[in-house]
Amino acid sequence: MKRRSFMRVLAAGGAVIALPGCDQMPPSATAPWTAPGASQTDLRLRALSWALLAPNPHNLQSWVADIREPGLIRLSVDLQRLLPASDPPNRQVLIGCGAFLELLCQAAAQQGQRAEVTLLPEGEYVADGVDARPFATVRLTADASVPPDPLFAAVPLRRTNRAPFTAQVPDAQALAQLAEAAGRPGITLHSSTDAAKVQRLRELAIAGYRVEFGNAATWAESAKLMRVGAAAVAAEPSGVAVTGTMAWFGRQLGMLGPEALRKTDGVAARTAINSSAEAAAHTHAWAWLSSADNSRRTQIEAGRAYLRTDLAAAQLGLAIHPNSQVLQEFEAMSALYDRFHAVVGVAQPARVQMFVRLGYAARPEPAPRRPLSRLVHT
Ligand SMILES: Cc1cc2nc3c(=O)[nH]c(=O)nc-3n(C[C@H](O)[C@H](O)[C@H](O)COP(=O)(O)O)c2cc1C
Repeated sequence: MKRRSFMRVLAAGGAVIALPGCDQMPPSATAPWTAPGASQTDLRLRALSWALLAPNPHNLQSWVADIREPGLIRLSVDLQRLLPASDPPNRQVLIGCGAFLELLCQAAAQQGQRAEVTLLPEGEYVADGVDARPFATVRLTADASVPPDPLFAAVPLRRTNRAPFTAQVPDAQALAQLAEAAGRPGITLHSSTDAAKVQRLRELAIAGYRVEFGNAATWAESAKLMRVGAAAVAAEPSGVAVTGTMAWFGRQLGMLGPEALRKTDGVAARTAINSSAEAAAHTHAWAWLSSADNSRRTQIEAGRAYLRTDLAAAQLGLAIHPNSQVLQEFEAMSALYDRFHAVVGVAQPARVQMFVRLGYAARPEPAPRRPLSRLVHT
């Protein structure tokens, strides 16, 4: 594996490299991608086996499903899996939960089930907090008239792609198809391939990497989630999988111990900035999901819209890569947060919920997932 690829893994959360040699991705970590739910007889478990493949911040998979009441799935945030440094209001975590919810509904429709969704059924979270109460309940009822979602076929192809993209610029038709697929109440997908605007956004994205990866608290949060080597990924298939030959060498040389990874002036943090900047330099289209407001329901809707965008991109052969830095709500990012919103012309109460690179690149391997049993209460 190239050193650059290895460091791209360190940069961003959950990329996967599987080359022949030492410290390959353990098959158990990506097993949930193979025939999801095929062995389940309970329809809810079958649908949940697909839902856990949803994109989510830092691949933390911050969701819990309670199926103790017949016919009902009660979904809540896993309070042990939050990102207090980079996501103080738990906004990104809720977007990931929204993506999970959308995929669950699509998987239910695929089985001829109507999914009746109630958001925040036991009341709103207080301020920026999340708590043990559900973010949604889903009741499944057999209904042969429920149409399957055409996007569902793209689930096995969907990936977060952190590679530098080719020079091919996504055309207006592809971007219009993405925008149509993204449609959810109150959420709109915008995009730009205008060279001057692309450059402006590139500069902001790069400034964002420098702040997030150079900040002691946010970088330490990422470093703590790095699973270095095959055994570590197999033991905990969430967070950032650092696998392959370079990971093996790095481990042997003592370069990838917790202390070394955590340093903001260390090789991992510095190279993470450089490889992310290189990927941004090879970006010729940016897109962003804006919302009419910033309520919790809206954040969940944004997650649903992002999952749909992600699947539509996979269907169109487009690579997609969230760049969330400039949307993060910690103090050191606030000036960039404001500048970014000004550049894309989104003013309060509207907000941007997701900001992504779009383009073309070879599809990477799937990212690890925890097995269904780790997130379901039966
Ligand atoms: C709300 C949200 C924010 C994300 N932000 C980033 C990001 O800033 N950088 C990045 O590389 N990936 C980001 N991702 C993608 C996740 O890291 C990715 O979904 C996860 O690692 C699992 O990989 P997969 O999407 O290939 O299954 C984000 C995803 C979500 C839902």
